[in-house]
Amino acid sequence: MKPRSIPSQPSRAPSTPSPAGDPSTFSLNRRAVLAAGIAACSLIADRSSAIQPFHPNLLQDASASMNITKAPFGTLPDGTAVSLWTLSNSRGDLLKMTDYGALIVSIEVPDRQGNRTNVTLGFPKLDGYLERHPYFGATVGRFCNRIAKGKFSLDGTTYSLAQNNGPNHLHGGEVGFDKLVWKTEELRGDNYVGLRFSLLSPDGQEGYPGNLSVQAEYLWDNEAKLTIRFTATTDKATPINLTNHAYFNLGGWQGGVIHNHQLQLQCAKYLAIDETMIPTGALADVAGTPLDFRTATPIGQRIAQLTATNGYDHCFVVDGQPGTLRACGMVVDPKSGRGMEIQTTQPGVQLYTGNFLNGSDSNGGFKLHEAFCLETQNFPDAPNQPTFPNSILKPGEKFEQTTSYRFLVVADK
Ligand code: GLA
Repeated sequence: MKPRSIPSQPSRAPSTPSPAGDPSTFSLNRRAVLAAGIAACSLIADRSSAIQPFHPNLLQDASASMNITKAPFGTLPDGTAVSLWTLSNSRGDLLKMTDYGALIVSIEVPDRQGNRTNVTLGFPKLDGYLERHPYFGATVGRFCNRIAKGKFSLDGTTYSLAQNNGPNHLHGGEVGFDKLVWKTEELRGDNYVGLRFSLLSPDGQEGYPGNLSVQAEYLWDNEAKLTIRFTATTDKATPINLTNHAYFNLGGWQGGVIHNHQLQLQCAKYLAIDETMIPTGALADVAGTPLDFRTATPIGQRIAQLTATNGYDHCFVVDGQPGTLRACGMVVDPKSGRGMEIQTTQPGVQLYTGNFLNGSDSNGGFKLHEAFCLETQNFPDAPNQPTFPNSILKPGEKFEQTTSYRFLVVADK
């Protein structure tokens, strides 16, 4: 069937041409300050790749202004009302989110010609999200990704979680944070609009210990940068790992397979996994493998070599110091010209290429490899792996992680 998703926005003409910038000066990791009011940004281009130079454009809808609107999105079977917020930045780029699952319903950003289209997979109505779906756009917790055999031990107690992915626990269990209605507040700043989602996950929910108070802030600024900030506190030690599970297709939600998207990751290592996708504990070099994206490479170029997983479904170690906001990677769709730059404080990033998308209704009609996810997170199974970054939040501590996805437009080759 045809994908059922959010219709794209009507085209709007750009009113501002591309700012000047000397493409010849761009090289790997070099920071460049761009003209026309664009802030300094890390440009991750490779002289040898087909996608350089990057030219972030200002594509302005003259009638746009920063705005937040709220509309009904549907009701849950128990009658709970669910809302849809539309956040517009001053350029007219749109972020739509719902309080069900604190999930991203659409992100509408311009292509090279200024046509705004939704670049995420999702459903047009709440109903689609109420069925078991592939976590489209969702805020995932209490522990995203896998915990081996659904078990971990803390302070001498062994906890058992749902084994909802073969023998393992996945994405917080049967009723994870993606299936809860979050309390929502609107946020407004000088150059952004945003939403703060919060919830209290009670002691024992899905088998996890401790009353966990969680906040997920989504800020949408005037440079089309989406900043996601997670914070949490607990009254008992508990594992925690939060991510957003947006599925991107920079060619637009109807853009088809993403094999031509160029990906560059600031990741020299990845986590080796066993046949149930649990890390073995080894940090392996990407060099000489299909996981080497240190220079921009089409996602599809080596994807057929990943037969065991039917595509990419791997956690990469983000270079640099976890806890500091640093470059994670960049993706460009050369055809539309849309690009996305990612920064994160998280230790890792899961590259997932929609290997389970099968065209079914519960998948929104989307098929194999019609999107990619870059889920920034702590390492899978961290509660059981003493050599991995700490994933246990204790009373008196504050969990805090930030990730940003900045959308831009690159010059034609
Ligand atoms: C993550 C996992 C995948 C899959 C998807 C959701 O990316 O690593 O294996 O579970 O979520 O379908």
